[in-house]
Amino acid sequence: MTQALRDGLRLMRAFATHPRQVGAVLPTSRTAVRTMLDLADLPSAALVVELGAGTGVATREILARLGPDARLVAVEIDPQLARGLAERLPDPRLQVVCDSAEDLGTHLGGERADVLVSMLPFTSLDAGLRRRLLDELPRALRPGGTALVIQYSPLVLGELRRRFGEVRTRLTPWNVPPAFLFACTRPGG
Ligand SMILES: C[S@@+](CC[C@H](N)C(=O)[O-])C[C@H]1O[C@@H](n2cnc3c(N)ncnc32)[C@H](O)[C@@H]1O
Repeated sequence: MTQALRDGLRLMRAFATHPRQVGAVLPTSRTAVRTMLDLADLPSAALVVELGAGTGVATREILARLGPDARLVAVEIDPQLARGLAERLPDPRLQVVCDSAEDLGTHLGGERADVLVSMLPFTSLDAGLRRRLLDELPRALRPGGTALVIQYSPLVLGELRRRFGEVRTRLTPWNVPPAFLFACTRPGG
């Protein structure tokens, strides 16, 4: 069985258990992930944080772009998906955290990310949780850092604009469904 098929089955199982939390039946395409990651300077980053790492489609590509001394903290709330990530990606630069991204601050212990990558399904989450998660994004970034957000609708754009100085937008058709990519810069860099 191919990697893509295995990832698809993993995500479908998670979706069947927690549809709103997972928010997608199919994994994000590698092309969409690559287009999104091209919007930030990953090779120069010392600390990258990924939220909602799922099957690890973006995790693998982030690790491929990171320098040898950089770190990636990947947060995933689903214990089975988190366990799968840690088992399949034994990279000393990767720390998998199984928790809600709402509690990211506790795991970063005062550190701030240079780049944050969000795979979270904001539009299928309830409004209170969505607001708390969105509030975490600028908090977890260093001034001048970039938050990359992938979504299947543009609904969250206004919320991102309220929290960041600058938001660049791209649409990639190379995903099912087509995906909106947002690159948000925290002011003050
Ligand atoms: C759309 S899926 C992303 C999957 C990934 N793009 C992939 O292709 O494997 C969203 C992921 O966010 C995770 N998630 C949802 N709410 C979360 C939260 N509060 N904290 C951390 N992860 C969360 C889900 O468990 C799921 O794995």
